[in-house]
Amino acid sequence: MPDDYTPATIADVRRLRDTLEQQGKKLVFTNGCFDLLHAGHVRYLEQARALGDAMVVALNSDQSVRQLKGPDRPLNTECDRAEVMSALRAVDAVVVFDDERATSLIEAIRPHVYAKGGDYTVESLNREERTALEAAGTQISILPLVPGRSTTNTINKMHATDCATASNGLLRLAVLGSGAGSNLRAIIAAIADNKLKAEIAITLSDQAESGFREIARTAGLPALFVDGGDNPRRLSEAAQKEIFEHLERARIDVVVLVGFMRILKEPVISAYAGRIVNVHPSLLPKFKGANAPQLAIDDGELETGCTVHLVTAEIDAGRILAQAKVPVNIGDTAESLHARIKVEEHKLLPQVLNEWRERGLPVRGAGRP
Ligand code: GAR
Repeated sequence: MPDDYTPATIADVRRLRDTLEQQGKKLVFTNGCFDLLHAGHVRYLEQARALGDAMVVALNSDQSVRQLKGPDRPLNTECDRAEVMSALRAVDAVVVFDDERATSLIEAIRPHVYAKGGDYTVESLNREERTALEAAGTQISILPLVPGRSTTNTINKMHATDCATASNGLLRLAVLGSGAGSNLRAIIAAIADNKLKAEIAITLSDQAESGFREIARTAGLPALFVDGGDNPRRLSEAAQKEIFEHLERARIDVVVLVGFMRILKEPVISAYAGRIVNVHPSLLPKFKGANAPQLAIDDGELETGCTVHLVTAEIDAGRILAQAKVPVNIGDTAESLHARIKVEEHKLLPQVLNEWRERGLPVRGAGRP
């Protein structure tokens, strides 16, 4: 019987919506992964249901949960999740959807009320979903999360006991990049050669099509994508939060930025303080920001190089961990110089990470509640 559970179809839900509308009633819509149900979910769903007269829950399919949350999720299959969800008092129908976003479902169902949980604001909702909701004339309701109850919390508690024993001595890395991915390739190679005792738990990019993601995929690594928003140097509030959630879920020790061209802010900066490193193509504090090789040429430098440093809220200003020098040759272009700088980066970054690990910094869960 459990595996026979059949979720509703979009047509079923659309019919339900139309019937309700004829009766002057409202259909509430909410969506999510709902992988490991807890009291916070139940209370949220009760509150959401109270906004109308019936509620449909759109569940992310197994494949879309993997895309959103990483390869270790979901813990429960879409069939099981749908069955448990449909048994709740607050839930009238469950549909399963395959996309990362619920946009097409919203367009098809045109719910009267859309409920979203958490510390979102209407402004920080996904842009496409918000546009679809506005086009459907749907009322948007943001409901507060129940403090202390979350799937990530539950999973972290379960892992807390593992941490003491799971000291296989490997640093769990998240590698974030936007570009060609040569530093990612160097980290992968250093791990394979046993020069860096680490494992790459996730890679994450703000560029859907990039060399970086291609290298991650080819190496069989989780290649997560986060839509950073319109400004190419900034991350929207929703994206900052999404990145934080990915890091937490993957229980990351160290966040490694390799040409990640958007500025990380809260909540990641505080939660991972002292555990975020960046590689930069200059001898910092000289030539911060973008185009560092070109700036070194323009300034007539005879020597430049690369820096591995800690990331703080101030751009390219955190504690310097290591540097390597590279001569500026006559006739160098930004490209030729940058290519020689990268050769040094590829050696320096894995070396710094490994030395860091050997000195006992930073252990998973250290300094965390
Ligand atoms: C690297 O040279 C890195 O130092 C630089 O982007 C490049 C990424 O190359 N980072 C910055 O300029 C940050 N301000 P990759 O994608 O081939 O690893």
